[in-house]
Amino acid sequence: MLRGDTVGLRARHEEDVPVLRTELYDDVVNGSRSEAGPWRPITPGSKDPRLVVDDKEQRHVPFSVVELEGGTLVGTATLWGIDTHNRCAHIGLGLLPSARGKGYGTDVVAVLCHYGFVVRGLHRLQIETLADNHAMLRSAERNGFVREGVLRSSAWVLGEFLDEVLLGLLAEDWKRDS
Ligand SMILES: CC(C)(COP(=O)(O)OP(=O)(O)OC[C@H]1O[C@@H](n2cnc3c(N)ncnc32)[C@H](O)[C@@H]1OP(=O)(O)O)[C@@H](O)C(=O)NCCC(=O)NCCS
Repeated sequence: MLRGDTVGLRARHEEDVPVLRTELYDDVVNGSRSEAGPWRPITPGSKDPRLVVDDKEQRHVPFSVVELEGGTLVGTATLWGIDTHNRCAHIGLGLLPSARGKGYGTDVVAVLCHYGFVVRGLHRLQIETLADNHAMLRSAERNGFVREGVLRSSAWVLGEFLDEVLLGLLAEDWKRDS
């Protein structure tokens, strides 16, 4: 398990799947704002890649996020689009509604940076998020990510086009304790 100050990132367990499906992926608003495509329901027992991990998929590393104290499941975190030639990847995360606004998101980003830069030896990490996702923007910036650009009207979200912000962090600019 990878450890931050308050959260741990561990492998996906079978018992995590129904909790994540019900509390995170069944939520139309959250799904529409977090996924690149349209929201659609996940059938219980299906092998949807957002929930069921394919260990052979080398470019994508999904984690379940737990509280260090007590081990309660609080969300998901992913290093995705890993490109070993350009040594870059994207990060993504989603916390259960009851776990938001407690500082966990900032800690998850810190742990993903450690995984990307130290464990995987990557050079650049990237995040794309909606321009009005202040908690995500702040979680990223608290870890040293800088805004590199705005993708104007790039996301169709529940009836309107929204801007996305592209944030990046280079290994040499990363401060482990930021
Ligand atoms: C985005 C998300 C991961 C952030 O994690 P979090 O644990 O809620 O965020 P934190 O508690 O670490 O807060 C980070 C910062 O954002 C601020 N913040 C938190 N919620 C906020 C809100 N609703 N509006 C404005 N600012 C907010 C906090 O005050 C904190 O700022 P500070 O460091 O200056 O004090 C989490 O809210 C979430 O999972 N949301 C739904 C899914 C999602 O949007 N995923 C990202 C898709 S790209």
